[in-house]
Amino acid sequence: MKFSFALLGLASVAAAVPSPQLTNDGVSARAAWPNGPFVTSGRWILDASGKNLTYAGTNWPGHADVMIPEGLQYQSIETIVQKIKSLGMNAVRLTFAIQMVDEIYANGGKDITIQKAFVQALGQANGMKVLNQVLAKNPRFSASTTRLQVFDAVADELAKQQIYVHLDNHISKGMWCCSSTDGNSWWGDTYFSAANWTRGLSYMADHGRSWPGLTSIGLRNEPRDPTNNPSLSRASYNWEAWHGYMRQGAAAVHAAHPDLLIFLSGLSFDTYLTPVVRGQALTPGAGTFSRDEFAPGYAGKLVLELHNYENSIGSCGSLQGNLLRNGFEALQGGTGSGVVNVFPVMMTEFGFQMDASTWKGVYASCLASFLPSLKAGWTIWVLAGSYYIRSGTQDYDESWGLLNHDWSAWRSPSYVEGALKAMVRNTLS
Ligand SMILES: *[C@@H]1O[C@H](CO)[C@@H](O)[C@H](O)[C@H]1NC(C)=O
Ligand SMILES: *[C@@H]1O[C@H](CO)[C@@H](O)[C@H](O)[C@H]1NC(C)=O
Repeated sequence: MKFSFALLGLASVAAAVPSPQLTNDGVSARAAWPNGPFVTSGRWILDASGKNLTYAGTNWPGHADVMIPEGLQYQSIETIVQKIKSLGMNAVRLTFAIQMVDEIYANGGKDITIQKAFVQALGQANGMKVLNQVLAKNPRFSASTTRLQVFDAVADELAKQQIYVHLDNHISKGMWCCSSTDGNSWWGDTYFSAANWTRGLSYMADHGRSWPGLTSIGLRNEPRDPTNNPSLSRASYNWEAWHGYMRQGAAAVHAAHPDLLIFLSGLSFDTYLTPVVRGQALTPGAGTFSRDEFAPGYAGKLVLELHNYENSIGSCGSLQGNLLRNGFEALQGGTGSGVVNVFPVMMTEFGFQMDASTWKGVYASCLASFLPSLKAGWTIWVLAGSYYIRSGTQDYDESWGLLNHDWSAWRSPSYVEGALKAMVRNTLS
């Protein structure tokens, strides 16, 4: 308790530092970062002064087996956030698992300690070893710190360094994501209870009211066909059911924390949202996407998010065509475009091998120019140079990580200097 009050005290001091801004009617206002709540207007996201903004950032996973933001056995939270800041980035997509909230409910409303979380996921010996490394690098924590207090500390430090937090419900059961046979693929799948999901969204949105930099939330990462569950697939893997679940999730978030922007992900691992953008039938029904079916007051809060991993595509023209068709055309609209619903659209995941040359290939270089040219926001997968555990392997090395194994330096300095920093600049300028 004492611990989290101390942190919140510091964060609110930082967040209250005003930056002078002009409002629409020319009156000088002292708008404190993040100057929310944000709203959408057509294809733009606007802050409280009516100025448009987008995100250029990275994914920081906290949804895997341990359900604690990754990397803290190697570096302090401050150091990691400084690294993100040094790229010029302004946003982090911070992922969480519904299981974390389920366990809080199962434990009488109390979150479990990080000691218990590490031991549960890594075993007694390794769990204690990693816990002690985390405590050495982050001495403000103790064995009895809870997982949510770690999320709080991450959110507070991001706010202190003026980086927006986009919370993302990545998965239900805490583990590496995503496959269509992992039991987390669709509402009703083995681990994916719709009721636990709305409860978890609501809990995290409410909890996040104390995070000064929390500006948005993604309802669910990469909805996908539960291919090992054919009856579920036949019964509900479709756009009509998707529309219903999105309304439920949005209602849960809105009731808990009405300021947040709400991000919607598409089908097939969030690779397309065409029927939503083009106003086509949400099959098997005949109805079409309607903001009016989202409760009044938050139709102006909806943002579309897409992922793309067409890493071996042969031409930038094909990739651009695919992205526009898959939903990025919602940024453009216009007569004859086929776009019925204009939205802000962001690419919340794309990524590739961090080495000396992959970033120079078609896929990475195309995205590096195309997304900024659209003024589309993005968060690259992934910040993590390693995971506490991934798919059963402890201290798993992430060759797609912006950071190296011990989170101390960039894994591909040539990418960072040769493309990434410019991509950030060109997106935010
Ligand atoms: C804000 O909107 C203008 C066009 O009105 C555009 O040129 C600029 O790039 C936008 N900025 C961001 C950060 O999206
Ligand atoms: C939903 O949460 C409860 C705890 O409140 C838990 O016992 C149950 O296993 C969860 N359901 C699923 C499908 O994970």
